[in-house]
Amino acid sequence: MPPDRGKNTGESEVIKIAVLVSGGGSNLQSIIDSCRSGKIDGKVELVISSKEGVYALSRAAGSGIESCVIDREGYDSDEAFSEEILRLAKEKKIDIICLAGFLKKLGKNIVKEYGGRILNIHPALLPSFGGRGMYGIRVHRKVLEAGEKESGCTVHIVEEEYDTGEIVLQRKVPVESGDTPEELARRVLKEEHRAYPEAINIIAKKLKK
Ligand code: GAR
Repeated sequence: MPPDRGKNTGESEVIKIAVLVSGGGSNLQSIIDSCRSGKIDGKVELVISSKEGVYALSRAAGSGIESCVIDREGYDSDEAFSEEILRLAKEKKIDIICLAGFLKKLGKNIVKEYGGRILNIHPALLPSFGGRGMYGIRVHRKVLEAGEKESGCTVHIVEEEYDTGEIVLQRKVPVESGDTPEELARRVLKEEHRAYPEAINIIAKKLKK
């Protein structure tokens, strides 16, 4: 457990959230909006992007949230990369780390220190259609190729491997006949925007106990 755990989890204190992104950041936006509207009893304190120039960074700036870019290429290992994320998270006394379209692998060090408090959202019903290389539109293509009748999204606790870890919440959507991957992606994304705030609340409540 991080040394700061508990300092920021008293009844009166809001849960401090860091969101890790690599792209458009629509899930980041839904988390920010849910914090602002009171749907999440928390506050996004930090946005970390693995890429320069992504729209998620503009969203953070637009909401007055501190952000930075940490490029995996500048580090020798997943652990060294994660050490920098961990350092910032500890500095800001972050309670929950949310991966929202974050496409880099985290090291054992951060997974261990933030045990049970790193969440990821995946655009399919895990354990199906997950694992290395399964992200974004590729996932929806595979779901359609497999002839599935339903899909959805999963919020889960992050472990060392891709897309494993305890499932916190899933939301389902139907696959319509003639769906393109893009159409299915849009339907799933709408549910993601509801699922992530709900899942954060579930974990936040556990932390406050
Ligand atoms: C989301 O659909 C998320 O589930 C997916 O990337 C998209 C990011 O969108 N993540 C993965 O595929 C991870 N395996 P956003 O940047 O608009 O939130």
